[in-house]
Amino acid sequence: MTGRLRRADARGLAAAADLLRRGGLVAFPTETVYGLGADATDDRAVARIFAAKRRPRFNPLIVHLPRPAEAARLVRWSDAAEALAARFWPGPLSLVLERRDDCPLSPLVSAGGPTAALRVPAHPAARELLEAVGRPIAAPSANAAGRISPTTAAHVVAGLGDAVDLVIDGGACPVGVESTVVDLASKPPRLLRPGGLPRLELEAVIGPLAAGEETATPRAPGMLSSHYAPSLPLRLDVLDVAPDEALLAFGPDPPAGARITRNLSPAGDLVEAAARLFALLHELDRSEASAIAVMPVPRTGLGEAIRDRLGRAAAPRPEEG
Ligand code: TXA
Ligand code: MG
Repeated sequence: MTGRLRRADARGLAAAADLLRRGGLVAFPTETVYGLGADATDDRAVARIFAAKRRPRFNPLIVHLPRPAEAARLVRWSDAAEALAARFWPGPLSLVLERRDDCPLSPLVSAGGPTAALRVPAHPAARELLEAVGRPIAAPSANAAGRISPTTAAHVVAGLGDAVDLVIDGGACPVGVESTVVDLASKPPRLLRPGGLPRLELEAVIGPLAAGEETATPRAPGMLSSHYAPSLPLRLDVLDVAPDEALLAFGPDPPAGARITRNLSPAGDLVEAAARLFALLHELDRSEASAIAVMPVPRTGLGEAIRDRLGRAAAPRPEEG
């Protein structure tokens, strides 16, 4: 970490906002834990979050907004959402809602699925930063995958080092545990992650919550249904392709002859490949091909998460047994 720590004053936050608008990674304080932020509308910036955290999977990420009014532009807003937002935003509550058709968020923040988790944090530095950036900011906790969430800037520096472009030091986080995550896209609403806002306070507003499960750790195949699965069959690690197949290529030398070819990264760059993965899968799935043939992607770096996601997309569907 080379002098990339700055105070949460006007100049520090202006520098942070500038970096975020240019696709950079900025760790910043929220009232719950420090977040590792990136422009949530920029595929490549969001992919860099996964690389910095060394996450072996594309978990969906929480998207941070400066004001509740911004949410309705991104997701299908509802009465329950309005009631919870009016009562608890800004604060340690994240709401999972269906993405609008014209939702500008990167598909990576939703792990390719139909929903997005939104929250308006209460921490003054976070709010000032979000206002200054003027874009939704994806921010998981600013720790390496599998490590404890950071509640001081020193934790972030120790855990992520120079994988972050800038760390804003706003002191210790007052809440210290992550936000409570409620899924309002399912009926009845589900508590996906207990957190800084107690369940009873939520239930007082919208009634009983069903038990949920973090989508990060789906156990039954049915749990994958909230994720995007292509309707065409997938053939993985192919080096040749049939004329009626769609080819999802990787690297400089894809085989010729596919019905349609899209390349995750002609240069073989795994951050670029992650950034393009879900959009290209969607595009090929809409083609007239018989199947999607996927070239080998190396297991290193973000390759592990890319391969995990492709493996899930290729797995037998629940309704197929
Ligand atoms: O307090 C917090 O929420 C912190 C600060 C930085 O705001 N952020 C945080 O983000 O904890 P993260 O990425 O570490 O936690 C994301 C969790 C996922 O594991 C999942 O449980 C849930 O939020 N989540 C996010 N998007 C979702 C979605 N579309 N559907 C279901 N769950 C989602
Ligand atoms: Mg986390």
